[in-house]
Amino acid sequence: MEDRHRSGRRRGSGIAAGTILAIETSCDDTCAAVVTPRGEILSNVISSQARFHERYGGVVPEVASRHHLELVNAVVDEALQSARVSLAETGAIAATSGPGLIGALLIGLSTAKALAAAAGRPFVPVDHLHGHVAANFLGEDAMDPPFLCLIASGGHTLLASVEEPSGYRLLGATRDDAAGEALDKAARMMGMGYPGGAEIDRLAKQGDPGAFAFPVGMRGVESLDFSFSGLKTALVYTVRELGPEQSAARRADLAASFQRAVVDSLMLKLEQALEHTGARRLAIGGGVAANSELRARVAALSEARGLELQIPPPELCTDNAAMIASAARYVEAVPYPEFLGFDAFARVAA
Ligand code: KG4
Ligand code: ZN
Repeated sequence: MEDRHRSGRRRGSGIAAGTILAIETSCDDTCAAVVTPRGEILSNVISSQARFHERYGGVVPEVASRHHLELVNAVVDEALQSARVSLAETGAIAATSGPGLIGALLIGLSTAKALAAAAGRPFVPVDHLHGHVAANFLGEDAMDPPFLCLIASGGHTLLASVEEPSGYRLLGATRDDAAGEALDKAARMMGMGYPGGAEIDRLAKQGDPGAFAFPVGMRGVESLDFSFSGLKTALVYTVRELGPEQSAARRADLAASFQRAVVDSLMLKLEQALEHTGARRLAIGGGVAANSELRARVAALSEARGLELQIPPPELCTDNAAMIASAARYVEAVPYPEFLGFDAFARVAA
């Protein structure tokens, strides 16, 4: 699979100058950030809605949209205030335009368009996955393209060849569940809260990763695609065989073994992609890139092979608006009034 992905549109009025205010509402975090053209983060505000979704065991789209609507103005105000930047001082207003939950995306997109119209600034539509890649362009030891990038989140798992900062070329992606989705579903099966990735990470430290042999998807296959649905099914059967008492008693072993299989799957395709592309520079991103085992394994691989590695801090791996502002620096801005007709998209067109 080879496919080019860029944010926004191909024809526009050029890259916006100045400091960028960005809004991210693609899933269940209401985020706003202010970032300078050089990639300095002046503010990065995240209001997590996880507690509202926990009782349902996953994100409920309508609940997410409603909370975004209630929170977005306060989150934007806080981002501007803590950056000590007024709306009039921004050069452009950016927002995630997709992929994600359509109702949730529309709240951030409409807010950004309204602010851009009121302030007389251009609007910059950003692809969420381009944002995860662009988290690597921030901070003091930012990495410039070209590099190979593994993105693993709750909604997506993919390998990207990043040749220029304005987009990426897709090398492979999951054929079913995302890595984070598999971790969240596993956590739910083991009776933990939502989202479960971070909790599995914590619990796995007390367990034996070799206790259960879970399958590693797409092993022995040349494709750079991932698959996590077989792993999920294997856990269902294991938990059923163990029964409720044993499953609870061996939760740490289950967590460690499941996490090991997820990380093995990611590492397997990452190593194949390194061979396939000959890349010497590597970066990771997305919520699962906050995982301690994955971070350690990627660091060890880079050390062993003498690769240049960039791992964003955990708070820039999970959803945030600083990464959206970072990507927006390389995306064509849409002028007023043209951007008023700009729409959100739930999925990448096939
Ligand atoms: O990038 P992100 O914040 O949202 C999406 O774009 O999906 O990723 C969220 C995902 C969730 O599945 C969550 O369980 C997972 O990232 N996650 C982790 C960790 N922290 C968050 N997975 C494993 N270990 C972690 N420490
Ligand atoms: Zn994300």
